[in-house]
Amino acid sequence: MRILFIGDIVGSMGRDQLQTYLPKLKQKYQPQLTIVNGENAASGKGITEKIYKQFLDWGADVLTMGNHTFDKKEIFEFIDRAKRMIRPANFPVGTPGNGITFTNVNGTEVAVINLQGRTFMPTIDDPFRKADELIAEARKRTSIIFVDFHAEASSEKLALAWYLDGRISALVGTHTHVQTADNRILDQGTAYITDVGMTGPYDGIIGTEREAVIKKFLTNLPVRFEAMKHGKHQLSGVVIDIDPVSGKAKQINRILITEDQPFFS
Ligand SMILES: [Fe+2]
Ligand SMILES: [Fe+2]
Repeated sequence: MRILFIGDIVGSMGRDQLQTYLPKLKQKYQPQLTIVNGENAASGKGITEKIYKQFLDWGADVLTMGNHTFDKKEIFEFIDRAKRMIRPANFPVGTPGNGITFTNVNGTEVAVINLQGRTFMPTIDDPFRKADELIAEARKRTSIIFVDFHAEASSEKLALAWYLDGRISALVGTHTHVQTADNRILDQGTAYITDVGMTGPYDGIIGTEREAVIKKFLTNLPVRFEAMKHGKHQLSGVVIDIDPVSGKAKQINRILITEDQPFFS
């Protein structure tokens, strides 16, 4: 079982990258399942139904989200019918949407779970206990369990990955938008990377127009952050190979496409 995961799509530049490269990546890597984080897909904040449908049309099978899930008001209208999109499962009880989805890949079921960290982030429910609960539910149906852990702190991501090692196939970090070089298989067979990185503007500051971010650091005055709309692009992802019977990961490799590191088919 090969899973392709693409990190946070930021704004129109991120969407352009996904549309351009997803067919090429699928041709090169032949994944059975493609998962895309879409929390920044609509101008850096949230997602619209039109974009959700575009991502599926372009080849995504499941979308994961994060702290920007509810930034676009229209999500409240379509989240219940967006069956292939999940938001962090440890949002408080009563939050619209789901944090786990099961997808059938040629007769083999795969569970995809989205969780969010609490360190330097909004205080939501405990992702560790929520993970225990959802993994128990998932393991009744499948041994292939993929987790997108949307979190700021490397320590929290490593802690959850080691806590879940051997119980899940993969835990990939998202949210910082900067790809880390620590992809590895943990002792009991869980694939791990602290952060997959983002897809969109290469020359912004984690996808945002530089001037506003620098002004914020210089003055601490309120500024309006906009996703960068022009310039160089990047795409960040990982490819994970999983034994379909045991659910243990065999390898995890990084993908980083920039104008300095072009794509070769
Ligand atoms: Fe993000
Ligand atoms: Fe985020």
